[in-house]
Amino acid sequence: MPCAMVETSRHDIVIIGSGIAGLRAAIEAARVSNGKADIAIVTKVQAMRSHSVSAEGGTAAVLYPELGDSLESHAFDTVKGSDYLADQDAVERFVKEMPNEIYQLEHWGLPWSRREDGRIAQRNFGGYSYPRAVFAEDKVGFFEMQTLYDTTTKYDNIHYYQEWYATTILSEGGEFRGVTAIERKSGDFVQILGKAGILATGGSGRLYSFATYAYSSTPDGMAMAYRAGVPLKDLEFIQFHPSGLIPSGILITEAVRGEGGVLLNKDGERFMKRYAPNKLDLASRDVVSRGMMTEIEEGRGFKDEASGLDYLHLDLSPIGAQKIKDRLSQIREIAIKFRGIDPVEKPLPVRPVCHYVMGGIDTDIDGATKLKGLWSAGEAACVSINGANRLGANSTAECLVWGKITGAEAAKYVEGKPQPATPGGQAATEEKRIFDGIFHGGGGTNPYEVRDALQKVMAKDAFVFRTKESLSEALRTIRELKKKDFLHCEDKGRVYNTNLSDVLEVESMLTVAEVVVAGALARTESRGSHFRRDYPARDDKSWLKHTLAYPGPDGPRLEYSTVKITKYQPAERHY
Ligand code: FUM
Repeated sequence: MPCAMVETSRHDIVIIGSGIAGLRAAIEAARVSNGKADIAIVTKVQAMRSHSVSAEGGTAAVLYPELGDSLESHAFDTVKGSDYLADQDAVERFVKEMPNEIYQLEHWGLPWSRREDGRIAQRNFGGYSYPRAVFAEDKVGFFEMQTLYDTTTKYDNIHYYQEWYATTILSEGGEFRGVTAIERKSGDFVQILGKAGILATGGSGRLYSFATYAYSSTPDGMAMAYRAGVPLKDLEFIQFHPSGLIPSGILITEAVRGEGGVLLNKDGERFMKRYAPNKLDLASRDVVSRGMMTEIEEGRGFKDEASGLDYLHLDLSPIGAQKIKDRLSQIREIAIKFRGIDPVEKPLPVRPVCHYVMGGIDTDIDGATKLKGLWSAGEAACVSINGANRLGANSTAECLVWGKITGAEAAKYVEGKPQPATPGGQAATEEKRIFDGIFHGGGGTNPYEVRDALQKVMAKDAFVFRTKESLSEALRTIRELKKKDFLHCEDKGRVYNTNLSDVLEVESMLTVAEVVVAGALARTESRGSHFRRDYPARDDKSWLKHTLAYPGPDGPRLEYSTVKITKYQPAERHY
């Protein structure tokens, strides 16, 4: 498999990842460059299988100021939801850009759901003071992806590398040069060079096995950036969405509660009145998930004997059968197919599930990373508009806004810039690492057992509630796992060798899990999704700051940076 000379292809802009952020970036780069920039999209899946396609409930934007909504309100809700860790200049830019993105998608053909009067409909979501989630039934991600994918195919200068697994970033003199990648179909190893790059590789929720994420949602992009010396920011903040369907973890959209569904404990009680007396089930996700776990811990949950998972009930009956069928048809189908329950008739068993990673690759407000010529957008990135807790419907929105921004920035950057020389030796070294070291290498530890052990310790010790003891145990386990000889591959076939990519994914999972846990252990306060039982209060004096993790000789080296406050002074959150 290894060859003497690494095959090379060249483009102006190399986008890694084909979810909403990656596709939106490609379209904007193509548009801004007037069709001149040569754009590559490198994606480990077929583009329409990107995890963005699973987004369900909504995309937040202010559409009707005349009816009482405002950019100010969207910004404030987002900052409050973030537990004041969001950078407020980024939030202000975000809310301003969003309405145009909704209309732009409509013009490209997206069939948004409508109100009775024919205008675009919006629904309620957690943590908002106005129902501002724009939706297309409960298949928002599918329609957004289909619209964007279709639009990319109209540009001759956008080239897809679908089912190509990117392995490392190439750089020289502190500048981005490209990536190495394996074509899954042939097993061939190539370098894809570019003057600019955009990492849009999505989240890393598969650090947990009970997750709403696709199995492909591993932190490859984050790990690549980290290895290239780009810091990872605020990774200790992991979002646990209140309603993962038992036992699979498939997302039951927050739109269910937005449309009137309610959470009940085993006594049939609407327990959220204890934790969020005003917003109840529509408090922000961190608050609802903590309320649910408290109910479970205090014995007011149910137990699923088959999976061993505790759960609570999500009752859809207040929504009414017709509305469930019209607006939540996918949820009904999922519940029937994956649990054998028709939610029109019976409540669904749900529990908090890993759903989102607030942190990511550190970027500035334009999505630029510390490596010149490299941008990042979407869930892989941390701009940061989500701080310590993201509000529902702000993720697909963020992908659109920073997809657009980074695409435009990269297009301006490459214009008139000569194609740099091929970086010396790095691709050959990476090829040797992968093929001599892993593909042909040996080792006694089963990589799948390492992955299972990692997911187990994350679920046990780095979940909704954390302590110094639990996080120390998680860190100890991760470091032990990292030392094991799991970097080897049993399958020696070239074609679609998923064993090889699985091993590379496990390696990236361990790298990023260590950053998550090290940051969480260091942060001796509770803020948003990061709740320390041993430090239950938010501590603005010591901790109103972003965590930046760099690779160090003994694990992550942590530094901190300032949070940008514009209008909204930190205050205690009440829902
Ligand atoms: O519940 C949901 O539909 C999730 C939306 C989101 O995370 O933005």
